[in-house]
Amino acid sequence: MSIFQPTEATAQLRCISCGATPASAAQDFRCANCGDLLEFVYPGRDLDPAALKSIWLTRKTSSHRLDQSGVWRFRELLPHIPEQHVITLREGNTPLYDLARCARIAGLDPLQAKHQGMNPTASFKDTGMTVAASSAHQGGFRWVACASTGNTSASMAAYAARGNMQSLVLIPEGKISWGKLSQSLDYGALTCQLRTDFDGCVRILNELVRRKPVYLLNSVNPYRIEGQKTAAIELMEQLKWEPPDHIIVPGGNLGNSSAIGKALLEMRDLKLISRLPKLSIIQAEGANPFYRSVREFGGTKLEPMTADTQATAIRIGNPASWKKALRVLRATGGEVEQVTELEIAEAKAEIGADGIGCEPASAVTLAGLKKLLKRGFVNQGETVILILTGHLLKDPDFTIKFHRGDLFPGTRDESQTAQIGPLQRAPVVLDADLAAVIAALDAAESRNS
Ligand code: F0G
Repeated sequence: MSIFQPTEATAQLRCISCGATPASAAQDFRCANCGDLLEFVYPGRDLDPAALKSIWLTRKTSSHRLDQSGVWRFRELLPHIPEQHVITLREGNTPLYDLARCARIAGLDPLQAKHQGMNPTASFKDTGMTVAASSAHQGGFRWVACASTGNTSASMAAYAARGNMQSLVLIPEGKISWGKLSQSLDYGALTCQLRTDFDGCVRILNELVRRKPVYLLNSVNPYRIEGQKTAAIELMEQLKWEPPDHIIVPGGNLGNSSAIGKALLEMRDLKLISRLPKLSIIQAEGANPFYRSVREFGGTKLEPMTADTQATAIRIGNPASWKKALRVLRATGGEVEQVTELEIAEAKAEIGADGIGCEPASAVTLAGLKKLLKRGFVNQGETVILILTGHLLKDPDFTIKFHRGDLFPGTRDESQTAQIGPLQRAPVVLDADLAAVIAALDAAESRNS
């Protein structure tokens, strides 16, 4: 079956490996020639950068629903989808925050984070989902489906519900946070917890889409990548089109890094920005196939692994978009780094202590930045943006375990938790007694002073 036809003359599908330019894609979004991933390209696109910047700014004061979306506001750089098919929850429009305490810890001034957890379903997935779910709607699909570590499924279920489509979620049983699971239930998805890991869910889904008329919403779907590009476009607008020296992102299935890198390259080609930031990708040590691919094999191959990390969002051993990510890593001159469970937990609490917070997978960015500083890849005086991908409330279990000191028992990190002690804030249980509360307040005050 081949049904996906980009409707705008300028948007063309192209295989990232053999360069084939099919007029349409099959349901698995793989190249019919060589089986690799497809991407959108825009041959002959000739846009005036000053005019684009001005239109995008003007739209900020518009009440039109497409203009109110931080994704569709940048529609000149997206495949065209007729407005009646666009499903939007006013995604994007996410804040750029100063992380003052984290900046001091890292020895940088300033350090900023773009918080993609401030999207409607509380993760960066919404920016890609609005475009891909709209494409499913345009294609007349009744069912959409994804395999997920929890955020894609939450986002997909919401957008499917808004577009009156059914959604099928495949998630690894016991390996995603309750917050994310509860979202897909409430948004009405058929949620299947499979007794496998994320990579096992992907395998089943790839078989399923060949047998059933369901629309695949994982990030192999190039519409997802196009939508996720807008995080970088919006970021550059927030920075008055003055690119930072570094952008740091978590790496799981590697769709997001590919999308942000693609946006940077497109913006450079369109002369929206004059130079490229270095895009660096951080993985958890227990789920580091891309790190190993780059460091051990020079990017020539990726060896799938059985992944394990408490940052469950990035518990992925066989990332689909690794070749796309490698390309943007090389093109921007970025680095790849890995961080331990302890480093992730510490960085997450530090981001929390700045009054911002994020889910564990997002905190790999700060943990990775510290390592990149130590290695001299990032230097004092350079500007750095961390991309925080998910909201603090996505995984409250992790946070509570951290503060209670229950995160590491029985693991190899158990004996090394002294460094996180000062960040732990376990709740204090007291009698309902004024004197007891005052004593707790005084004790806290003397600890702080
Ligand atoms: N951060 C969060 C919070 C995520 O949910 C994910 C991926 C990533 C980072 C990594 O992004 O896969 O594009 O490299 N979550 C996917 C999911 C896999 O199913 O929700 P990536």
